Amino acid sequence: MPGNPGIARWAKCIAIDPCDPKAVVELARAHAIDLIVVGPEGPLVAGVADAARAAGIAVFGPSAAAAQLEGSKGFTKDLCARACIPTAAYVRVEAEAEALAALDKFSIPVVIKADGLAAGKGVTVAVSRAEAEAAIHAAGDGPMVIEQFLEGEEASLFALVDGARAVVLASAQDHKRVGEGDTGPNTGGMGAYSPALVLTPELEARAMREIVEPTARAMAEAGTPFSGVLYAGLMLTAEGPQLIEYNVRFGDPECEAIMPRIEGDFAELLMAVAIGGEFDAPRLSDQSTMTVIVAAEGYPDAPRRGGLIEGIEAAERVEGVTVFHAGTARHSSGALLAGGGRVLAVTAVADSFANARARAYRGVDAIDYADGFHRRDIGWRELERQS
Ligand code: AMP
Ligand code: GLY
Repeated sequence: MPGNPGIARWAKCIAIDPCDPKAVVELARAHAIDLIVVGPEGPLVAGVADAARAAGIAVFGPSAAAAQLEGSKGFTKDLCARACIPTAAYVRVEAEAEALAALDKFSIPVVIKADGLAAGKGVTVAVSRAEAEAAIHAAGDGPMVIEQFLEGEEASLFALVDGARAVVLASAQDHKRVGEGDTGPNTGGMGAYSPALVLTPELEARAMREIVEPTARAMAEAGTPFSGVLYAGLMLTAEGPQLIEYNVRFGDPECEAIMPRIEGDFAELLMAVAIGGEFDAPRLSDQSTMTVIVAAEGYPDAPRRGGLIEGIEAAERVEGVTVFHAGTARHSSGALLAGGGRVLAVTAVADSFANARARAYRGVDAIDYADGFHRRDIGWRELERQS
């Protein structure tokens, strides 16, 4: 729901608003659906998982109360403070004047965040006082979080959580800025690879112990237990992993990068989490994956819609490559057109990081989409380490 031409190859797509809890439950009843998997944050924050649970339908995804971990940055920062979870120093403010006054408590760079869902685009890392003031002014009145800039490399850690129990799903590294060399505005993500080799097994265990597990316990203790996939955006600082943010879902494009590595029956695992059953951390293949996003020219500010896309079959003839659709639409003529900001997620699997990367770009190069663009440097930090 609502689907796109990519998933239409495998599934029946039904054009219903996925943020409408009643419509989702009615549809699930009408089709005797066994398990609902709520993907994006919008329906979670809107309470779709609550409505399904109330109707007795198994659902993978947190309640609206637990989805606050993504829906409100202020909520998460306060929880981190209570549970002593390592994260950047912060203040919550409500209005522009208050925000400007709070700036004095921070050194530059400083980070300004709107306190709601913004598809990864509500954050400004200000490298001067003037830029911080401009970001606050642009945000206007309304809840905001101002926090200290953390120095380090980012990694994403995904955990399956049911109440106080949390197990590792996989790690990945995203590339949030629109431009090569990590420049330009933040986006939903321009490419990712898995595993994030910089997150060593020791750092991963530490992040679970110091960040994810205390969060699961704190949510359970607060009477708002989390159930689903918890995505911890980490900064690996000199003092160890610190939490930048939580998402309450599989990331995009991280999802496309981690799925091909998961072995065993994934639906069964999701079902076990959904119904509060027994589950273990899934086995992961030792393959590496890389996903490169092809976006519409103008993304993230003003993506140009309607561009013709060809060559997906050619891309998928490259060994190990799968092309996932994001913002695509099928024209009545049968042509595939761009329908949104991020358009395709070209994913490759191989026996090493370098080979996955090479295959992903061979896949991207086989695609013919004149209005599109992509970053050529996905995985650049790891590439530098390996060369
Ligand atoms: P968020 O939406 O909170 O994940 O922020 C988006 C991006 O902004 C993150 O992925 C980081 O690249 C950057 N960012 C956010 N908070 C900080 C911080 N405290 N220090 C450094 N970079 C940050
Ligand atoms: N790629 C970042 C996100 O899904 O939020």
